[in-house]
Amino acid sequence: MEDSKGNIVFASLKNISKSFGKVKALEDASIEIERNKITAIVGDNGSGKSTLIKILSGAIRPDSGSIYIEGKPYRYLTPKLAYQHGIATVYQDLALDNFRDVAGNIFLGREITKFGFILDYKRMYEETETLLKKLNIDIPYLKTPVGFLSGGQRQSVAIGRAIYQGKKLIILDEPTAAMGVKESIATNNLIKSLPNRGFSVLVISHDIYQVFDIADKIYIMEHGEVVDQVMKAQITPQELRERISRGVKKSLRKSESID
Ligand SMILES: Nc1ncnc2c1ncn2[C@@H]1O[C@H](COP(=O)(O)OP(=O)(O)OP(=O)(O)O)[C@@H](O)[C@H]1O
Ligand SMILES: [Mg+2]
Repeated sequence: MEDSKGNIVFASLKNISKSFGKVKALEDASIEIERNKITAIVGDNGSGKSTLIKILSGAIRPDSGSIYIEGKPYRYLTPKLAYQHGIATVYQDLALDNFRDVAGNIFLGREITKFGFILDYKRMYEETETLLKKLNIDIPYLKTPVGFLSGGQRQSVAIGRAIYQGKKLIILDEPTAAMGVKESIATNNLIKSLPNRGFSVLVISHDIYQVFDIADKIYIMEHGEVVDQVMKAQITPQELRERISRGVKKSLRKSESID
């Protein structure tokens, strides 16, 4: 499937709505994720960003709308279906098991076994070491339970796991939210390397400068709606700021016209 500019679309969400009781978390939201590109979603707290990506990772079902993965239409996905399509998500809360070490987390739920039932620790450590080296992730001792690692190291383990377990699309929800400057730069560089490694990326961030640094395409969300879409190559960070505030005005105008 191609978009209007001839780019290959890996996945798209079309006219997705989702309510939690009286809260309209998403209203008619549509996005397209191009293959081997970095797509970003920006928006204020509670604007529906995490809900949108949970729909793409199969964690929750939309009330209406459609999902297309490599051209195949779905009304909703399950985590298993998302996995089968090569989609892996790094959630805002990371979902790491703090009591397991790095290898234990990289292989969490997909452990390598010998003869079908004995855990093959040797291979899991070897593969973890190779993976971290390939991604330039520096964790001195792989047998440390991840609960003792730094915020940035934990983030790297979560991204490493997504890269290991997902084969085509990596979804990252606020990947550098709890990080210092150095750790953020390392994580941004890791994310920027993903398209060259054959991945499509969908990243959520509050940080305009991070988004501007890493993304090819940026969607702006407001109160559950996708209110704008911009290509990074065509704007400056200042213009992106203006587009985001224009999104606010657009929503205000809408609610004004309802009154
Ligand atoms: N499971 C749930 N039950 C009830 N309400 C929910 C649930 N999940 C999300 N919401 C509500 O839906 C809205 C959108 O939430 P969502 O987590 O998608 O926002 P977000 O854009 O990711 O925000 P943040 O930037 O703070 O992470 C919010 O008003 C939130 O309170
Ligand atoms: Mg969120």
